[in-house]
Parts: sequence; C-alpha cells; structure tokens
Amino acid sequence: MREQLQALQEEALTRLQEAGSLAELEQIRVQILGKKGALTSLLRGLSEVSAAERPLLGELANRLKDAFNEMLQQRLRLLQEEELSRRLAAERIDVTLPGRTPPLGGIHPISRALGEITTIFRSMGFPPATGPEVEDDWHNFAALNIPDDHPAREMHDTFYLPPGSKGEKRLLRTHTSTVQIRVMENRKPPLRVIAPGKVFRCDSDLTHTPMFHQVEGFLVDEGVHFGQLKGILERFLRLFFVREMPVRFRPSFFPFTEPSAEADMGCLFCDGRGCRVCKGTGWIEVLGCGLIHPAVLENVGIDRERYSGFAFGMGVERLAMLKYGIQDLRLFFDNDLRFLQQHARL
Ligand code: PHE
Repeated sequence: MREQLQALQEEALTRLQEAGSLAELEQIRVQILGKKGALTSLLRGLSEVSAAERPLLGELANRLKDAFNEMLQQRLRLLQEEELSRRLAAERIDVTLPGRTPPLGGIHPISRALGEITTIFRSMGFPPATGPEVEDDWHNFAALNIPDDHPAREMHDTFYLPPGSKGEKRLLRTHTSTVQIRVMENRKPPLRVIAPGKVFRCDSDLTHTPMFHQVEGFLVDEGVHFGQLKGILERFLRLFFVREMPVRFRPSFFPFTEPSAEADMGCLFCDGRGCRVCKGTGWIEVLGCGLIHPAVLENVGIDRERYSGFAFGMGVERLAMLKYGIQDLRLFFDNDLRFLQQHARL
C-alpha cells in the first residue's frame, strides 16, 4: 500500500504539472480526491491493514493530499494568469487607430452644407429665420417689386397651386427672398437675418431640379453700403471653402435690389487658369446680391429715407457640389447608397 501511495503521489503531481487548462486541473482533482477518486479508493483499503501500519499510512495519505493541494493551487494561479494575459493580448485596444463609423447613416451633403453655411453666418451675427414654402403672390413677387405685368416674373417658372379659401393666388415659393419680406413686415430695424430653405421652380434638366435649396441673407440698418455687403460675402466664401480666393462682383439685375450684382469666386479647381468646371473663364458664379431697393422697404413700411439694407441669395446645391467635389446635381436626389456612403457623414 505504501508503494501504491507513493506511486499515486508521483503520478498525480506529474499530471498536475502537465495539465494545460483549468478544466483539466479540475478533472485531475476529481480523479484523485473525488468520491470515486484514486486516493479515496486506496484509503478504503486501510481497514484491511494491520493496526500498527495504519497511522503511518494515514500520515502518508495526508501528505499526499497536502502536496497535491499545494501543487493544484500553484498550477491554478499560473494557468489563471496565463489565461488573463492571453485575453488581454487578444482584446487589446490600440487607441491610436482611427475610429470606426457605426452604420447609423449620416447627414446628407445638402444638410451638411446648410449647417455649415448657417454656422458661419450665425458667427457673423446673422441668426436664421424661416418662412412657409406655400406662399402668396405678395411675398414671392409683389412686395419684392415684381408687379403683375413685370417681365421679371418670367425669370421664375412658378408652380401655381389652386387658389386659397378667399380666392387668393397660391404658389410654391420660387426663392427665399419671401422671408426678407416676412421678417421686415414683422420686425423693426436694425435687422440681420439669414433664411435657409427649399425653393421650387418648374424646371428640370441636367443642372436644374424642381426643388432646390437657397440661403437668403439680409441686413437693414442706417448707413448700409455696398462695401459691407462685399466684406461679408468674401468672408463667408473663404470660411465656407476654407481657403483664400479672389471674389469679384459683376453688375446684374434683380427687381428687389439696386444696384444688383452677381458674385464670382476664383475657380477652386484651376486657381483661375481656366478648366472645365469654370468653362475656361477662371471664375465661378456663386450668388446674387445687392442693396435692397427702396421700393421694397416702402412696401413693408420701413422708412426708406432713414434705413437702407443689403440682401444676397445663394444656391446650396451649387455650393455643396463645389465644396465636396460632386459632379452631378442629380446625385443629391437619387439616394444611391454608394453616393450616400461616400458623402453623408456624421
Ligand atoms: N432671390 C434671388 C434668386 O432667387 C437671389 C437674390 C437674393 C438676389 C437677394 C439678390 C438679393 O435668384
């Protein structure tokens, strides 16, 4: 029995040494010390041993147990540590890696551009205002110095709606200049406002969609002059495109501004040398603007002798195409996933 105990001790310790996992250790423990384990069944034989030998064998068995348990604890600790470092290595996070954008969708490039434009103007003291998309003739045309028979009405291909309950003409606004009128009717100068929003024109081809976005901006105060308008617009364009570029103002015509101008910026794609985007001219037209026509101020009850103002309007799709390098206007409205994945960011 003595030899058997010694042999068992050796075998058990060797197996513990060789065990490669926590599960294996547990298995060995059960096989040696468990109810049906090797030591337990050996000890059952003690009753057949002479009383003189029994204490010695008992002591041997206890030593075996102690040695076994000690080695078991040691191996457990070691294997646990190994497992921990394995997990730490496997689940290691490299905090210098770029983040992964979760597949939650993103902000459409038109909304992004609108957001950026609004942020820039807000920083220059122009908070946003909104107005209805379904308008009447007064706010879209008449108050803006475009009377019924005025040929400038033909500049806008208007979507007309069935007349309202009082027989009034209703239409989808063709520009955001309507918000100029609404704000000036309801508030007193000094005024500084931008009006971002959707506008509608009955026009559809490669470079026109029946719905598009504009941002209108205007300021009414005493002693307003064209130099301020130029300064604000140049500053805006450089902040929006995050670079310096020349800006020029060409005389133009709008019934609601006098003088009127169109602003061009130096082509971003060829630095003014001439390319396909600027059709070889080196310039890209980006907005319309001017000093608010005194007749418009009069229409909304603002003293035209005391106050003057400037206004400007720009197309958001156009600015977004230039800024994000989008070649085809229709891409904004197709909702092709490949386009959205490339351009819709959080
Ligand atoms: N409303 C004009 C348009 O839609 C743009 C504009 C706004 C021009 C304000 C001058 C002043 O074309």
